[in-house]
Amino acid sequence: MSVIKIINANSLNWYLKYFGLPLAIGVTMFRLCLQKTNRKRRDALQGKIVVITGASSGIGEALAHVFYEYGCKVVLASRRRTELERVKEELLSKKQLSPTEEPVVCELDLSNLGQLESFVQKIYDTCGKIDILINNGGVSHRGSILHTTMEVDTKIMNTNYFGSVGLTKAVLPRMVEKKSGHVVFISSVQGLIALPDRSAYAASKHAMQAFADSLRSEMFQHNINVSVVSPGYVKTAVSLNALTGSGDSHGVMDKNTAAGFTSEYVAMKILDMVVNKNNELVISQFLPNLAIFLRHSMPSLYFWIMARRANKTN
Ligand SMILES: NC(=O)c1ccc[n+]([C@@H]2O[C@H](COP(=O)([O-])OP(=O)(O)OC[C@H]3O[C@@H](n4cnc5c(N)ncnc54)[C@H](OP(=O)(O)O)[C@@H]3O)[C@@H](O)[C@H]2O)c1
Repeated sequence: MSVIKIINANSLNWYLKYFGLPLAIGVTMFRLCLQKTNRKRRDALQGKIVVITGASSGIGEALAHVFYEYGCKVVLASRRRTELERVKEELLSKKQLSPTEEPVVCELDLSNLGQLESFVQKIYDTCGKIDILINNGGVSHRGSILHTTMEVDTKIMNTNYFGSVGLTKAVLPRMVEKKSGHVVFISSVQGLIALPDRSAYAASKHAMQAFADSLRSEMFQHNINVSVVSPGYVKTAVSLNALTGSGDSHGVMDKNTAAGFTSEYVAMKILDMVVNKNNELVISQFLPNLAIFLRHSMPSLYFWIMARRANKTN
């Protein structure tokens, strides 16, 4: 017995000395190098014009903070001007890492598709260029397909999908002309999997994912980057603001959302994705990651689990 103990203790020591320790040192060195590279690349953001839709709360607000901190001129866009002005005041009162120009506030209703061209023109008139467009504004959905009106389906598709597509199309010709630019789409893990009672939301994010993938291939020759971010649960007002089947606000903070990542954490990850020009970023917890894996590798099991989930909520 004691011999086995000695052997185990010896082999553990051996592993730690010849395998564990060098691995830990290697990983730490790699992380330090990555942090140093990211810090250097973030400096390149200085002076960039960044348009952020949905900047009045949650992830968009946090994005405004991080891009502003790194020297970008941020254009804050959404429907609620008073909230955008609040975000602007908070940015101006902040201690900055780099000198930055004053943020610009611009009202925008993404679901009003006829207004998108003039919104973009206004930004070009004010700022002269757009370097990075972040399509973040969006609304979620809570309701079964049987009990969701077509008006709600249309509103969610217009806000989340057509609104972002319209803005992107309005910005692209000048980016193509300049042969530079970056378009970011804040999708969701629900752009990769669909849950019951979220049909309109999941459909809009799947459409966004597909549009972005086509766009990326077409824009490669023009030196324009296209990135898609797929967050899991993030602690924001997203479930409070979600639309029910009849178009009312859901008004409930979901348990998973309340326990989600902070929007500051997500915004910093997105900033590094932008500076590294990555095509995609999934920022998710274990369960949504598992669901994505099951949907693609064991679809029948995934459909069975989702059917049980739908049964439970009805
Ligand atoms: N939180 C999560 O768990 C999570 C997970 C995955 C993906 N996402 C995505 O992240 C993005 C941001 O959501 P959030 O979590 O930060 O939720 P949020 O706090 O509710 O923010 C949503 C933002 O979208 C704006 N918005 C909504 N409808 C709009 C419209 N018609 N026109 C213009 N702006 C509009 C809102 O501004 P106004 O009300 O002022 O217009 C608000 O600033 C959304 O696209 C969402 O789908 C969130």
